Amino acid sequence: MAKPLLSIISSSHSETLIIILSLFLGSFVQSKTLDSDTQVLRLIKKSIDPTSIPSYSYIGSWDFSVDPCESSGGQFLGILCSYPSDNSSSRVTAIDLDPIGYDGFLAPAIGNLTELTILNLHNNKFRGPIPPTISNLKKLTIISLSQNFFTGSIPDEISQLKQLQSIDLSENNLSGFIPANISGLRSLTYLSLSRNSLSGRIPDLSGLWRLNILDISINQFYGIIPKLPAKLRTLSASQNAISGHITPISSLQLLRNLDLSNNRLSGPIRQEVLTLPQIIRINISVNHFTIFEPIRNPGRETHLQLLDAHTNQLHGHLPASLTMIENLTSINLSHNQFSGPIPMEYGEKLGSPWKTLFLDNNFLTGNLPQRFSDGTIKPVRGSLANNCLSCAPTIPLCSGGQRPASECVSRNDGSQ
Ligand SMILES: *[C@@H]1O[C@H](CO)[C@@H](O)[C@H](O)[C@H]1NC(C)=O
Ligand SMILES: *[C@@H]1O[C@H](CO)[C@@H](O)[C@H](O)[C@H]1NC(C)=O
Ligand SMILES: *[C@@H]1O[C@H](CO)[C@@H](O)[C@H](O)[C@H]1NC(C)=O
Ligand SMILES: *[C@@H]1O[C@H](CO)[C@@H](O)[C@H](O)[C@H]1NC(C)=O
Ligand SMILES: *[C@@H]1O[C@H](CO)[C@@H](O)[C@H](O)[C@H]1NC(C)=O
Ligand SMILES: *[C@@H]1O[C@H](CO)[C@@H](O)[C@H](O)[C@H]1NC(C)=O
Ligand SMILES: *[C@@H]1O[C@H](CO)[C@@H](O)[C@H](O)[C@H]1NC(C)=O
Repeated sequence: MAKPLLSIISSSHSETLIIILSLFLGSFVQSKTLDSDTQVLRLIKKSIDPTSIPSYSYIGSWDFSVDPCESSGGQFLGILCSYPSDNSSSRVTAIDLDPIGYDGFLAPAIGNLTELTILNLHNNKFRGPIPPTISNLKKLTIISLSQNFFTGSIPDEISQLKQLQSIDLSENNLSGFIPANISGLRSLTYLSLSRNSLSGRIPDLSGLWRLNILDISINQFYGIIPKLPAKLRTLSASQNAISGHITPISSLQLLRNLDLSNNRLSGPIRQEVLTLPQIIRINISVNHFTIFEPIRNPGRETHLQLLDAHTNQLHGHLPASLTMIENLTSINLSHNQFSGPIPMEYGEKLGSPWKTLFLDNNFLTGNLPQRFSDGTIKPVRGSLANNCLSCAPTIPLCSGGQRPASECVSRNDGSQ
């Protein structure tokens, strides 16, 4: 291209030709981005309070005197474009804003950026509804609107965006239900709705067959645990009002991290859950579980490292079978109704590998296993306080004292 231009300029009619040339270049620059995409960017900027747009921010750099996709240097930060190899217009393919505190609404015109694959407005002050026009963004793979002030419900239309791989709507003020059809998003691997005011029953999510991470914690979901995606590795559902039994979890053969704390689950803690083949951390604290099922030989190694089941209604003897789990290091069974003696087997695990052992606030009785008073074991974080034990105050785990005799009288026998 350079060669013909130079030969034109060197010709005798250079003045007129330079004018033609500059007209050509001018129109070339202006038409590079699809006009409608440029309009949408203007509207997005216009829907944000200008006092919340510092000059050094990405949107502060949006200067419409140049073409959004052709600009260079500090202009139009936070935008990616496609550059078609034919001479069709460039399109905006990503909006990835800085977490600067932009305060405003998300313009419904966003739906016209039909080539958008990434929309990230994380950690700003966007408020108002998520515009249903996002249903036009058929190529969207990642949407993150987390840590804003979006209100209203999750648009049902989100279920039509079949390319979505990641949805993060956490830490907003969204209400209403999870769209039932969301289960049709076959490419989704990450879904976080945590810290909103969402409610209702959790729909059957088993259709999200590629989902690895599901976080619905800190909402107002109720009802039973639904069918869940088979490939789930992390499930966080803490601080809801989920009830019923834990049994559906036992089908999640790839699960590594489970947090169901602070719900209304009841019945037995199933041994199938404690011995899931990949499980590492289980937090089922602050629920209404009553029975700790003994772990029978699961026929394979159990990888569990952390078990937090504090503040339930677990009764009977402490589960001696916990000692069968090779790499368990942290156990919290405090604030339950366990009774009877501390199993002798616990002594062998104390200090190594058991580094954390909270058994406080139960109704345990009798003497401690020999090893608990052995000065040579590694220090253990934990507590045996507020039981009915013979616990010498010189032993650090015993600090805090035991229950008064009056609380121990009727329960000093194992009730299993
Ligand atoms: C967005 O698309 C709609 C429907 O095609 C059209 O009416 C509207 O003018 C477009 N808005 C912009 C900013 O391009
Ligand atoms: C591409 O540009 C050339 C020259 O500028 C023009 O002749 C051609 O028609 C254009 N093609 C398309 C598909 O617009
Ligand atoms: C949900 O899926 C059903 C059945 O496929 C369909 O009839 C319905 O229109 C969908 N709803 C939405 C909001 O997409
Ligand atoms: C969230 O919405 C509720 C009402 O829907 C309102 O009472 C509450 O103040 C809102 N919280 C925030 C942080 O905006
Ligand atoms: C388990 O969940 C409770 C309540 O949500 C929380 O306070 C506690 O720190 C969690 N335990 C661990 C070990 O993370
Ligand atoms: C326990 O931890 C050791 C060392 O990290 C590891 O080699 C071993 O495979 C683990 N065993 C189980 C059952 O997870
Ligand atoms: C165990 O639960 C008690 C509350 O019952 C809490 O104070 C303690 O921090 C918990 N310990 C761990 C390691 O989770």
